Amino acid sequence: MAKTKTTFYCQNCGANSPKWLGKCPACGEWNTYVEEVVSKSSSASEKEVWQDESRKRNKPTKIQELQFDNHRRIETGSGELDRTLGGGIVPGSLVLIGGEPGIGKSTLLLQMAIQMKTVKTLYASGEESLEQIRMRAERIGIDAENCYLLAETALSDILTHAAQLKPDVLIIDSIQTLYTDNIEASVGSISQVRECTGKLMKYAKQTNVPVFLIGHVNKDGAIAGPKVLEHMVDTVLQFEGDRHLSYRILRTSKNRFGSTSELGIYEMRESGLREVTNPSEVLISPREGFLSGVAIGATLEGNRPLLIEVQSLVSPATYGNPQRSTTGFDVKRLNMLLAVLEKRLGIRLSAQDIFLNMAGGIKVNDPALDLSICAGIYSSFDDIAIPSSICFSAEVGLGGEIRAVNRIESRITEAARLGFSQIYVSTHNIKGVDLSKFDIEVKAFSKLADAFADLFN
Ligand code: TYD
Ligand code: MG
Repeated sequence: MAKTKTTFYCQNCGANSPKWLGKCPACGEWNTYVEEVVSKSSSASEKEVWQDESRKRNKPTKIQELQFDNHRRIETGSGELDRTLGGGIVPGSLVLIGGEPGIGKSTLLLQMAIQMKTVKTLYASGEESLEQIRMRAERIGIDAENCYLLAETALSDILTHAAQLKPDVLIIDSIQTLYTDNIEASVGSISQVRECTGKLMKYAKQTNVPVFLIGHVNKDGAIAGPKVLEHMVDTVLQFEGDRHLSYRILRTSKNRFGSTSELGIYEMRESGLREVTNPSEVLISPREGFLSGVAIGATLEGNRPLLIEVQSLVSPATYGNPQRSTTGFDVKRLNMLLAVLEKRLGIRLSAQDIFLNMAGGIKVNDPALDLSICAGIYSSFDDIAIPSSICFSAEVGLGGEIRAVNRIESRITEAARLGFSQIYVSTHNIKGVDLSKFDIEVKAFSKLADAFADLFN
């Protein structure tokens, strides 16, 4: 006889407790515990399960005898997405795509479904009606013979249709709108999300059909629902960007079938998402005349070298407390760099408002941008423009020293490829590096003061 049991789940992190709690001991959020029904069928004990002869079991196999075919990945028709997935979709994998509302998750996957011409796709949406999806598809351009749409929130119905249609790829938009009758918890609750994901995982593994899940994120940016969701799936992709700006970054935060340092860059257009294959060119705006406060830094996004424009504005503070404000960069790190400039170089910034902006709405936390930030701030402070043919790639230490950064050669190569004529790096970075192979002048310094003396003479 099935016994009904209820448990309280934290809606933020998925921790559970037999009684209600005001503050979650696991994630520290207040008032997130909700009672959910967990039907527990009287399960057979461990002993009975393994003694049951009728059960079909997997057999232990020697590792050398396993058949493994790495070439069976399904191509998505989008180079950026393929790369982010580690070289295409792995059959039978479960991929979770998270991101804020309105960032373009539905667009990304619908576009993928439409682009895969030879692959039969089923796009099941619990968020939008078929007309709404169709309207979206009109904007992207519908030219797909093998893309099926389904507006449904009952997981059992979706799986029934999938069993009949036999798609090559199944897309679920979104996992939080699905429900299964097996448990009584409400739609979108932790237990429902977990149960549905579990079933979809089973479906993926048994039929070898890859399943994409769209997941909402909570206010901390984590995928809403329990962490267990991230443990269950094979791959977790994060779709990020500023909703008001057009650039989007697709980042891998977990991948059982590839590297997590890959990423894809997209631009949201009227007609859907466009792949940005050469991000540096769009992140650096063409400059006319001399403009102080702008410095170009060579950073890395995942494995990709990227040159971005760092804009700073230093102006005398009119009110008591000077402002320090950043977009796309950690304000604490900015404060540290300002302290270094003040203490080690004697630049009086304490009575100045300072604004720092990473152009293009990109968020970076690469210390290799330190030097470009310091240079940009001094350039704005003294109103001396930095020539647009110069870029920077080095970390600045607390002692005012210029420190080495990782993968300097790919940064220098990218700067050279984009036509910069000089790059400022750390002396410690270029030991043993043959500089003659780069088509750019590499200027190496070990002290910020020396680099500034050279740059601003
Ligand atoms: P959507 O994919 O619905 O976001 P999500 O599923 O992550 O909530 O995309 C929402 C935004 O994208 C919406 O504000 C409109 C914009 N958009 C375009 O700019 N161009 C397009 O072609 C499409 C389809 C959407
Ligand atoms: Mg959506």
